[in-house]
This record gives sequence, C-alpha cells and structure tokens, in this order.
Amino acid sequence: MELITIAYCCLMDQETINGLHVVEHPLVQHKLTEMRRKDTTSQNFRTLLNEISLLLAYEVTRELPTEEVEIETPLVKTKMPQLSAIPSVVSILRAGNGLLEGVLQVIPNARVGHVGLYRDHDTLQAVEYYCKFPPLEGGMTIVVDPMLATGNSASAALTRVKEEKPFSIRFLCLLAAPEGVKALRETHPDVEIWTASLDERLNEKGYIMPGLGDAGDRIYGTA
Ligand code: URA
Repeated sequence: MELITIAYCCLMDQETINGLHVVEHPLVQHKLTEMRRKDTTSQNFRTLLNEISLLLAYEVTRELPTEEVEIETPLVKTKMPQLSAIPSVVSILRAGNGLLEGVLQVIPNARVGHVGLYRDHDTLQAVEYYCKFPPLEGGMTIVVDPMLATGNSASAALTRVKEEKPFSIRFLCLLAAPEGVKALRETHPDVEIWTASLDERLNEKGYIMPGLGDAGDRIYGTA
C-alpha cells in the first residue's frame, strides 16, 4: 500500500480497511493521473477510463470461482478450469457506463443492469429515476460507479440490487473518498470495494479531493 494510502487508512477502523482493495498497479496509477489533469479532453478521459476499467475489472474478478471441465485439444482430452458462473454487472447511471465498457471487454458475456440515481445537489441524497436488471438471483454482481463520494448513491444502488437476491456483490469504482468507504462499509458490510485510489476527503460540495471533478461531465463533455 502507498504511504499516502496508509495515512488515510489510519483514519478508518480495521473493518473498513479490510473490505477495501486499492489497485496500485503502476499502469492504473499513471492513467489515473492523466485523467485527473484538468486539461485532459473528454476524448482522452474516455479512452483512459476504458483502459483503467479493464485493468480494474481484472482485479475485481481475480478470485472468481472456477471448475474443471473436460475439453479436447487438437492433441488430447484433458480437464481445464473455466468460470463456474459469469458475474453480472450493474452500472449506476450515468457515469457508471464509463466503467462498464472496460469491464465488458474482460467479461463480454456478462449480463448488464442499470440503475439511474441522481444526486440531489442540496441534500446530497440519491434519488432513483430508472432501474432495469437482468436476473441477479444466486449469482455474483459487480456494481460499478467511478466515484465513491458520500456513498449515498452507491448505498441506495446496493440496497436495490440486494432486493434481487444475488449470492454476492462487489463494488468497483475509480476513486473513493474515506467518507464514502466508511459509509458503504457501514451500510453494506458484506460488499467489498475495489478502487484505483483512496483520495483525501470530500469538499463542502461533496466532490472528492483532489479528485478529478465531475466524472459524468468529464466523460460526456457536459460541463
Ligand atoms: N461525483 C463526481 O463525479 N465527482 C466527485 O468528485 C464526487 C461525486
């Protein structure tokens, strides 16, 4: 773990840290730094997000269960591992779709759900406006949203996903604020979090600091 990450983690209790996986791969960190730059264009931001999400998806799926199946190579019959089940992915609209594309490059046969939540700028609470899921019961679901800020949207999305009774859920984001991690681990202690960075804090408007600004605006050029 980076020193700076350790410093932030010291503010959290052990249980919170236990459920948090910071992906410190140099390629991820390099691309993230490029994304944070205010001069990075939407086009480059999207490309970088796509590349990072592919690397993050690799990490979040690292311990997926496999089973031995019999196959025939051109030379011989043999037993080899394959995924026991294909996870589903739920994107929290709209910024989640930026992460979704890279994840689908790693798990192309995943089924995809969307939940639309917007953040009320005054209360910072999540308000649901859209929800469409494939069958999630009994399987693993990866919920994606680039920014874990207050944790309100993520928490509301996870509550909604849990109504579908998946066997397990993982949360994948690009940046996390300590406040969001704490909130999510408290409301959904069974859901572990994968992120490229644990940033410093939230500012008074609920933005992650140092952050990268509004992820949706930067992906879609709507600022
Ligand atoms: N959502 C964003 O897009 N950026 C933040 O910094 C916080 C929430």
